[in-house]
Amino acid sequence: MAESSSDPLQRPLPDGIVPEEVVARTENHWVMIMAAMLVVMMAVLVVTGVSGALNPPSNVEVVEPVTLHLGGEFVESNLGTAIEPDGSATVRMIAVQYDFVPHCVVVPAGTPVKFRLTSADVVHGFLLPDTNVNTMVVPGFVADVDTSFAEPGEYVMPCHEFCGLGHHAMWTRVSVVPKDQFAARGPLERTRCAKQ
Ligand code: CUA
Repeated sequence: MAESSSDPLQRPLPDGIVPEEVVARTENHWVMIMAAMLVVMMAVLVVTGVSGALNPPSNVEVVEPVTLHLGGEFVESNLGTAIEPDGSATVRMIAVQYDFVPHCVVVPAGTPVKFRLTSADVVHGFLLPDTNVNTMVVPGFVADVDTSFAEPGEYVMPCHEFCGLGHHAMWTRVSVVPKDQFAARGPLERTRCAKQ
């Protein structure tokens, strides 16, 4: 028997076994492809974050969820749309199984709008499609999102956090109307949408 064939590393590989250097080369290629995918996904996050002014909810502001109805910012008479002295709009809403209160809000177009939401029970989600508004609504905290709407329109607003058996039916509307139309509305019609 020759010296070379007694060394197992020098023996020819049986059929169907891929040589080690081929395996290493293929694995290196896949590692590079995966690293490139991570770079692309990170770039998409950064570019959309900067260009679309998207950011994760970072408002740490606590509120007592069991006494929302008794007083303070989220008492019923204070819910809906309010116009601030600087002309911007603030919308206050409560998410509760399985609706948003008020069920429909109206805001003026071309105006800075601040949404302030909290939950009276479990975690809900608040999403306005095609805008930068997308936040969780967590009991005990106030979600605070700034946006504005260039054009009038209707936004259907689904709860996008599973919150119980009625989650699929939990949705509401934001109605964006022209600025002058909004100003012409009475105090109650400004606060919330009359029709359901
Ligand atoms: Cu509220 Cu899902």
